[in-house]
Amino acid sequence: MSTETFDRELDLDLAKYRCPLCQQALSLVDKSYRCENKHSFDQAKQGYVNLLPVQFKHSKEPGDNKAMVQARRAFLDKGYYQPLLNSMLALYNKYGDKSAAVFDAGCGEGFYTHQHKTEHNSVYGVDIAKETIKIAAKRHQDCFFSVATLSDLPFSDGGFGWLYSVYAPILENEFSRILQDQGYLLTVTPADNHLFELKSLIYRQATKHDTSKQAIEQLTLVEEQRLNYPMNFENSEDVLNLLAMTPFAFKASDEVLEQLRQLKLFSCQADFVLRLYQKTE
Ligand SMILES: C[S@@+](CC[C@H](N)C(=O)[O-])C[C@H]1O[C@@H](n2cnc3c(N)ncnc32)[C@H](O)[C@@H]1O
Ligand SMILES: [Zn+2]
Repeated sequence: MSTETFDRELDLDLAKYRCPLCQQALSLVDKSYRCENKHSFDQAKQGYVNLLPVQFKHSKEPGDNKAMVQARRAFLDKGYYQPLLNSMLALYNKYGDKSAAVFDAGCGEGFYTHQHKTEHNSVYGVDIAKETIKIAAKRHQDCFFSVATLSDLPFSDGGFGWLYSVYAPILENEFSRILQDQGYLLTVTPADNHLFELKSLIYRQATKHDTSKQAIEQLTLVEEQRLNYPMNFENSEDVLNLLAMTPFAFKASDEVLEQLRQLKLFSCQADFVLRLYQKTE
């Protein structure tokens, strides 16, 4: 959808941004989000807003670095995680209230975010990495993106009906706070054999993922799914991008990198756990 056809003031059920400094509601006036205490946050030209005050930043460029971001974007664009996206959307279609606001926690470049946009909802994405939010906002102008931290979300209480986290930190208190009653949280985390074949090239003894459940006490588990499928690679560039997205990329020796560059065919498992929780009281 283009900027021209998307009106941010449309009659959608919008979630409300709140000021990260004083927690009062923010309103958008002349491309600037302002609270009653006169704190002000300008909307960037790409359409996102930076709601991470400098004093809350623990490093100069928090979140994923540029190389990881570019690799993930190139990899996801090739469709290797399409089955995951399909499973996420199937759950959303089965359980989600389609007019309630949706939130993607740790959204990266917005690959999953914009896929949740419908005519009747408003969709928000937050990430702590500014470069990634710039890309997301530029690519997907029909969603609301902001730079912020998941540990202190810039939203008022109870504004979201559907919240999900794909491979990003899960902050139970904040997630529960911004969910409506009966709203859902979907988490996607790696299962035992995720990228096992790739890891086996790098580690002498590749360990399996720990899939033990992170206890989420404030919400009720409604459904749990395992999604396992082979990803068949026919070019080494995609494998190298996949590797660059992972936390073990820096462990790869020059020898392994060379081996990967020479690869003609490679198959590797994608293995995910999807857990759907509901706020029941
Ligand atoms: C592995 S990436 C996943 C990105 C996206 N969900 C995807 O699957 O394409 C994790 C993301 O979480 C973000 N992140 C990590 N810690 C965060 C925090 N405390 N607040 C907001 N975002 C955070 C990173 O910048 C990164 O974009
Ligand atoms: Zn304020």
